Amino acid sequence: MMDKKDIIYNMKTYGFCIIENYWDKEQCDMALNQFLNLPRDVFETGQGGDLRCQFTNSHCRSAFDFLKDEFIQDIAKEYSRCHVADRVVGGIVHFNPEQEIDSGGGWHVDSKIEAQFKSFMYLTDVGPDNGPFIFVQKSKALAEDLPMYSNNRISQETIDEKFDSSDIIEITGGAGTCVLADSTYVHRGKQIQSGTRCTFTTYFYE
Ligand SMILES: [Fe+2]
Repeated sequence: MMDKKDIIYNMKTYGFCIIENYWDKEQCDMALNQFLNLPRDVFETGQGGDLRCQFTNSHCRSAFDFLKDEFIQDIAKEYSRCHVADRVVGGIVHFNPEQEIDSGGGWHVDSKIEAQFKSFMYLTDVGPDNGPFIFVQKSKALAEDLPMYSNNRISQETIDEKFDSSDIIEITGGAGTCVLADSTYVHRGKQIQSGTRCTFTTYFYE
């Protein structure tokens, strides 16, 4: 496992950090079992057509554990003022041939504040086809001045024009991969082309 110092270094240098095998298969299966058995009415449809359960931590023990994860909270504290773990949003991105679905509704920044820490847990294996998180490293400096439309969304044309493709990182990983990211950098969930992606996302505020 990476130590805290390396994680903070990655966060400060690139805006994100990937910790593989943060949860083992058993933890992921248990979380999925709890999460996928929640009643349909706790879910809402997100901006990208995905399904979201706000405060999954109130419904699932495993999401509660992710919210209260001390190691991640310590990193959040060291990274930014935005370090109070507020809630876990459980997300399901499921392929539907009749609809374009992603998590988040395309390229965007969550906010334009100094820094916003967020942690993600992949509960399923996430490959290039089932909606990986895509993050634009080095995008922080430019983010504030990019043309945006509804709710801090950014067009594909702007991305192509302003960023080098080598800085656009598609984050794939097995179930149990934990992704820490500063969501004031440009990011999106890739449009899903097959299968299902399930995640827990912890939102942190000042
Ligand atoms: Fe976002």
